[in-house]
Amino acid sequence: MPTSSWQPDTPLYLQLYQRYRDAITAGRLRPGERVPSIRNLASELHVARGTVEMAYQMLVSEGYIVTKGAAGTRVSPQLATLPNAGNPLQQRRTSAAQPYQTRLVRNILPFQPGVPALDAFPRKIWSRLSGQTLRMIESSMMNQPDPAGYAPLREAIATYLGISRGIACTQEQVFITIGYQGALELLCRTVLRTGDRGWYENPGYFPGRDFLQQMGMELTPVPVDKEGLQVATGEQLAPNARFAVVTPSHQSPTGVALSLPRRLALLAWANQKDAWIIEDDYDSEFRYHGHPLPALKSLDHEQRVLYTGTFSKVLFPGLRLAYLVVPPSLQLTFHEAVNHWPGPGSILPQAMVAAFMQQGHFARHLRKMRQLYAVRRGYLVEALESIFGPSLHIQPQAGGIQVMAYLNEQQSDKALVMAAQAQGLGVKALSEWDAGIPQQNGLLMGFTNFTCAEEAQAAVKRLAALLAT
Ligand SMILES: Cc1ncc(COP(=O)(O)O)c(C=O)c1O
Repeated sequence: MPTSSWQPDTPLYLQLYQRYRDAITAGRLRPGERVPSIRNLASELHVARGTVEMAYQMLVSEGYIVTKGAAGTRVSPQLATLPNAGNPLQQRRTSAAQPYQTRLVRNILPFQPGVPALDAFPRKIWSRLSGQTLRMIESSMMNQPDPAGYAPLREAIATYLGISRGIACTQEQVFITIGYQGALELLCRTVLRTGDRGWYENPGYFPGRDFLQQMGMELTPVPVDKEGLQVATGEQLAPNARFAVVTPSHQSPTGVALSLPRRLALLAWANQKDAWIIEDDYDSEFRYHGHPLPALKSLDHEQRVLYTGTFSKVLFPGLRLAYLVVPPSLQLTFHEAVNHWPGPGSILPQAMVAAFMQQGHFARHLRKMRQLYAVRRGYLVEALESIFGPSLHIQPQAGGIQVMAYLNEQQSDKALVMAAQAQGLGVKALSEWDAGIPQQNGLLMGFTNFTCAEEAQAAVKRLAALLAT
């Protein structure tokens, strides 16, 4: 382990934990290999024993290392027994063939969160629209496209947001991006600067957190409770932050909605500090009880909210189409900025989505999916309740396309998820969404692709069998 380059802002135990975890997942430390004793490592690195102890405790609780009395501490030999398929540890170890880490998942696995019901996607309509789009392509569309995105799609999005999300905007305020990260990148090139501090929900959507950190942002994790982001804590921890990233409709991953008092407090803080609120409205379209909540942006009278939405959950993630809505006062800045960037890619998928929306298919598809997801969500919740009983606490959620269930404190969600993934189950560990020491163990489970109650029952039984071992 290199002793140099400790980062001043991250606690030492966390850095040490991360270094070991990375070395194990990259295959530099192999299953069964011995790691130094706490005393030796502490003296080698000139850190307190308690620091190493904390890092080792985290590694043990997540199943990376095991302590065996006189036999010392070793990388868990169990990691070697996981089959190659679905096992990120082994895939990374064959580093000559695959030298990078990838989030790519080829097959839809049972429980996989974040993907819509692919069997219910209106393929016939989509293929008809693709033919139409190609046949009717105008010469203006074949020229260099507008880097802000295809204008009819921006128009359709502005109309949809006005009706469905209570957001009054024009197409000039809408920018098409390559996924949500494309929207974040555009923000980093415009209103945010390297070194800017921002609040980030904790637990929170880790791909967004990683991306912003890579872009040089300094993030303060702000805890989330049953009313969503704890605004008052954010004000204590980083009162002068320049931005806050929030998922107000359906917090990622806990699923809670940001309460109205917190919404108002967040807007008041942003107004007072001239800070930006980045609203990630990624799956608000799906709500099964009560009325859909209007977007935070709809309350934004002082124009502090930068709103993002995506087609990943309502159509499919492979489209890579998302959008950003900026206040009128920033329109010009953003139009100038996009003139110097590659834009959202080919015009063809944008034209197809525009036609899908303009011809009324989008509204019909959403209506159909809401009904279907209410049924499929029921399959999963019933299976979990009947098979696990009270040992699993299911977070009541009014919307979204996944279910969160909490494990008791002794159960490590990461170890369970590793075992589940080795069995071809796509559950995710709540602790992965946590920026520091995970506060709670839980499982995040998608239900959209369970086509009948029996499928959900069979998958839940396989999961329960792992928990019993
Ligand atoms: C919280 C959250 N935000 C945004 C996104 C959308 O990402 P993208 O548009 O890049 O697919 C997702 C997708 O999983 C998400 O979970």
